Amino acid sequence: MILKVVTSNPGKVEEFAEAFSGMGIDFEHIRIPYDEPQVSSLEEVVEAGIKELRNKGLSDFLIDDSGMFVDHLKGFPGVYSSYVQKTVGNDGVLRLMDGVPDRSAQFKCCIGCCVKGETVIVTGVCPGSILHEPRGEGGFGYDPIFSPDGERSFAEMPLSEKNGISHRGRAIGLLRKELGERGFI
Ligand code: IMP
Repeated sequence: MILKVVTSNPGKVEEFAEAFSGMGIDFEHIRIPYDEPQVSSLEEVVEAGIKELRNKGLSDFLIDDSGMFVDHLKGFPGVYSSYVQKTVGNDGVLRLMDGVPDRSAQFKCCIGCCVKGETVIVTGVCPGSILHEPRGEGGFGYDPIFSPDGERSFAEMPLSEKNGISHRGRAIGLLRKELGERGFI
């Protein structure tokens, strides 16, 4: 089976390919712009994206909307994670957290997948914390400032290790289960 991954982020495609390796699914990276409405949850963004892409005639595809939710900032940047990353970036988030003792945060990943006309939506969550400074060269986005264990950042981990514990890895695990139960893999 070939699943099209609709995203502007090649890092996500790499994570999907690594997590599904040996399971008979190939991933094709395609870039089709779709609206990301300003709504309050990742699931609503994904539902709207799936509807739009299906209306455009696309089939056998998946989309992923993720965000970092910082407790001290009452869940910000959350659904605004992409905008915040593009504007103030990791340094901007670190400035907001300057001197803040409660550094707890969660990464969430919502995946919407359309296969043979059926839609599956799953969400994975990874608890962790915001580091005091960026660390590591790997990954993308907020990886250098987010740590699942309070020590190493995602950017310091090999991809397979990040996938083993990350929000996306957990969402992929749920997706694999759903696709298996429906006989697609
Ligand atoms: P989106 O899902 O592509 O809209 O991602 C929202 C923002 O979160 C973007 O700035 C991404 O770079 C960032 N992001 C998404 N997934 C991850 C991840 O696994 N690690 C670090 N940053 C991420």
